[in-house]
Formats: sequence, C-alpha cells, structure tokens
Amino acid sequence: MKRGGSEEAKRRAGERAAAAVEDGMVVGLGTGSTAAHAVRALGREVDAGLDIEGIPTSFQSRELAREEGIPLTTLDEATPDLAIDGADQVAGGDLIKGGGAAHTREKIVDSAADRLLVVADPTKEAEVLDAPVPLEVVPDARQTVSGAVREHGGEATLRAAECKDGPVVTDNGNLVLDCEFGTIDSPDERAATLSAIPGVVEHGLFVGIADEIYVGTDEGVRVREL
Ligand code: A5P
Repeated sequence: MKRGGSEEAKRRAGERAAAAVEDGMVVGLGTGSTAAHAVRALGREVDAGLDIEGIPTSFQSRELAREEGIPLTTLDEATPDLAIDGADQVAGGDLIKGGGAAHTREKIVDSAADRLLVVADPTKEAEVLDAPVPLEVVPDARQTVSGAVREHGGEATLRAAECKDGPVVTDNGNLVLDCEFGTIDSPDERAATLSAIPGVVEHGLFVGIADEIYVGTDEGVRVREL
C-alpha cells in the first residue's frame, strides 16, 4: 500500500537508516513503502559484499528481502542488532503503526532489536498522536473488542480489503479494527488499556520502543536520537 509523502523523501530516510547497518549485523526488516527503500539499499550492499542476516516483519518484507538476495534468519536463531521500520504517525518518540496490518510482527521484531530506527517523511510527524489505532483481533472477538473500545471512548471500524470482498486478513489470519480515539494524550495508558482487552492480539501504539527517528525531506534527512 502506498501512503504518506513523496517517494524521494521516503527514499532518503530509508537509505540513510540503511547506512547505519554494519557487517555482521542481524537486521529487523520493517514493512511498508518507506522501510522498503531501506531493504532495497541493504540488498545493494549485500550484492557489494555486506555480510548481514535479515529478520522480516511481514510477508511483504520477506518477499522483498528474498528478491534482494538478503539472507534471512528468524527470532528462533538470532536477536536483531538493529531494526529499521516505518510508521503511520510519529509524535515525540511514540508511534502509531499498522497501516499495512503488520504491526504485530513488527512490534515483536522491533522490540527485540537493540536499536529501532524509524523511517518516515514529514507527513507522518505530529505534535500529539491522534491517528486511528489499528488493533489486530482474533476474528471471533471482533464484536466484543469493538464494544470494549466503545466503552473506552473510541470507535472501531473493521478494515475492509481493497482488492478482495470483505475484510483485511492479516499475515496471522486475524482481522484489523481501526480505532478512533481523537487525541491520545497518554499513549502508555492507552496502550495498557488496549492490551488488556481479551481478543486483542496486538495494538499499533509503539510507546518507548524507537531509538532514532529519520525523517526524509525533499532536501535531506533529519535525524533525531531519543
Ligand atoms: C505496516 O503495518 C506499518 O506499520 C508500516 O510500517 C507503516 O504503515 C508505514 O508504511 P509506509 O512507509 O508505507 O507509510
């Protein structure tokens, strides 16, 4: 899915973050159009002799990594030294992810990594998080989770597929509810509330996980260390 700002800005952010990868590293490979630029850049470096292994965060990033000839491993075998991943919204160091319905595996890999480098463009930046929060939910729990979200002051919408009748089905066989809460003043409290709802596999709030934010612009890249 294509989202966000210019391809040039995304490319700059992705390529700059990829330059932080060193020989011998295990790298978490993020999902989405911005992270894809980092994966392609790493593929070129692997062709030139860089010795790394990747851990994909989704079907999409696994396929891209294979096309690019990046050797792959799993969390059963290795721990990522670093992960590079995109975001749908960035405020301070907190993120909303899951626009590509991959946030569960992204959170597992990104949290396991020693460092998470987030790649974004200026359209993703906000003062305060206020985008809808994706919830990956077990299919049978769709109605009960929607009810719980309503009790917590939100409105849940089942994400519809674009090239298929019916809902988006995640890489893990679950559904996605996009939950509108308005401004999220306390992301850690909201995250704890969402995690406690039975049937929620994972939510798209990434609180305190990111280490560096790379924002590509049409002129260059702004790097923020957290
Ligand atoms: C995937 O589920 C998401 O978390 C993506 O990482 C996020 O949507 C960013 O994607 P883009 O770089 O395509 O905007």
